[in-house]
Amino acid sequence: MCRLLFVLAAAAAAVPCSRGDSGAGLKGENSACCSALSSDLPSILSPSSPQYTIRTASYWSRSAQLSPACIIQPRTTQDVSVVLATLRTHPACSDTQFAVRSGGHMSWAGANNIDNGVTIDLGYLNGTTLDVKTRVARVQPGARWGGVYAVLDPLGVTVVGGRAAGVGVGGFLVGGGNSFYSAQQGFACDTVVEFELVLGRGEIVKASAQENSDLFQALKGGSSNFGVVTSFAMQAFPAGPLWGGVVSYPKSTTQQHIDAYVSWTAGLNDYPYGSSLVFWTYLPAVGDIVILGVYEDTTGTVAASPAFDKVMAINGTTSTMRVDSHKGLTDELEQPTGYHDIWFTLTFKNDPLIYAHIVFLHEQMVQAWKSESGDPDFITQCMFQSIPTIFAKHSIAKGGNMLGLHRLAENVVMLLLNIAVKTPELEVRASAMLRRYVERIKEFAESRDGLVEWVYLNYADGSQDPLASYGLENVEKIRKVAEKYDPDGVFQKKAPGGFKISKVGTIVVVFTAADCIVVVVVQVELLVVAPVPILLLVRVPSKLVIVAHLILGVVVRIKVLSILVLLVRVKLLVASFLVVPPACIVFADD
Ligand SMILES: *[C@@H]1O[C@H](CO)[C@@H](O)[C@H](O)[C@H]1NC(C)=O
Ligand SMILES: *[C@@H]1O[C@H](CO)[C@@H](O)[C@H](O)[C@H]1NC(C)=O
Repeated sequence: MCRLLFVLAAAAAAVPCSRGDSGAGLKGENSACCSALSSDLPSILSPSSPQYTIRTASYWSRSAQLSPACIIQPRTTQDVSVVLATLRTHPACSDTQFAVRSGGHMSWAGANNIDNGVTIDLGYLNGTTLDVKTRVARVQPGARWGGVYAVLDPLGVTVVGGRAAGVGVGGFLVGGGNSFYSAQQGFACDTVVEFELVLGRGEIVKASAQENSDLFQALKGGSSNFGVVTSFAMQAFPAGPLWGGVVSYPKSTTQQHIDAYVSWTAGLNDYPYGSSLVFWTYLPAVGDIVILGVYEDTTGTVAASPAFDKVMAINGTTSTMRVDSHKGLTDELEQPTGYHDIWFTLTFKNDPLIYAHIVFLHEQMVQAWKSESGDPDFITQCMFQSIPTIFAKHSIAKGGNMLGLHRLAENVVMLLLNIAVKTPELEVRASAMLRRYVERIKEFAESRDGLVEWVYLNYADGSQDPLASYGLENVEKIRKVAEKYDPDGVFQKKAPGGFKISKVGTIVVVFTAADCIVVVVVQVELLVVAPVPILLLVRVPSKLVIVAHLILGVVVRIKVLSILVLLVRVKLLVASFLVVPPACIVFADD
């Protein structure tokens, strides 16, 4: 029996989880909740309405286009408050889970949408206004960065925001936010001076350096763990056009690009007006990998710094380098829609051999996928972005964020590895393949002592654990603030999407049967272990199960860190299948 269960466990653990359908309840039940919500608000979309189809199709990635029981579209902060209060207290909604969508750019299923549940679509909360005197811009979560710059550019100011016009404001800002201006000013979240948000019980609160300052800090990188942000006050600043654009190159220039980017990353603290990223990308139109370089000088000066010398010496095939508005440059960096997208990210030291190995593995991956999938219509990106120490310096000067980058002593590099494919079936296979390549990259980086713990939330796959990578201290801060401002755990349980602090680090998988229990503690990508709650699902009232429950319950309650560490560090390599995504609780029962 036990052996059978292990086999079962292997099968269950291999199934990717949190595809947005975790216990969201039956469709029928939730449509009663939708009806209850519709008596509060006029704008509620059922699956049969054309607007529902339009809003669903407006998610950037097909992977995120799920089927909620209804989509609710608040028009004011007050509406959001009413929706949250109803979801929490109305009897018809007691088992209903919900998701929150701002721009809807995060690609993985369940990050911003929910099958059979209620999706709160903040699309109408999309305003941008500027207080000319204080230069504070108020931007709402449902706006997209292209729309924000369209308002601000003509006023001669801008904000530290996204680099692709179609990315939404809300998720980007609570997840960090890398910008053309980050070397100059820090992550976008660091430039927020006040958040307005609705908490789980429907209270509308503000968070700033003066008011609810713990929440203010936690919202900068702590993501969707506290409430629904309805407005961001951002410190804008005078800005004119930038010099920037995209240059393409043949892949034969690989080594020159690696050398150039190593130098660029090493020198970025001395040239904070610059911004650059480089990526190797398989493009179906070309049928091969090409290299694209994206360069900006935020002062608008052409090739202003010797920092560009190395890369400008590489002969490109095409170039769009020009002086243009912030909006114009972000329009150019839009990514194609109509695909199922899988993104993974990791961070490594600025070591040329690690870049070279990643580029090599990316090429291998492209070849393997070409022959294995039989579908030439796919896109990959193997993208490098500098994360210099100056980012954290700006953050600290502005009150600090949750990303934990102050722990890094040197400039490092973030990798975004992604693939876009055409069908859900291909997505499952591509995801498994990508995961294998990510593991190989990690192994290589580790072998050169070059793997950096940091995982950037906005690029992370649902199976990654970015909050854990922000360090024990920040994990605890986020946890405390979440408990304080969301004492009912609405944003942990009722809104399960995105990266949740209650799921950080440890997973306990319990398999039970009449004659045995298998308790597996799996730790994923967590170098320091936080005293995390153990997620233990036990349904069988057998004596042994109760004992296991008690033991683990005590461990949780008294937070015996050392025992947890022991359990976790032992890394129960019962079999290689124990690569379970975090947030994935597998429950098997006889
Ligand atoms: C805001 O949303 C409304 C409704 O979807 C849309 O008509 C309008 O164009 C949007 N405004 C901006 C600035 O994107
Ligand atoms: C770039 O192209 C020019 C003209 O075609 C050529 O003379 C030069 O050697 C090339 N430089 C590099 C680095 O390949």
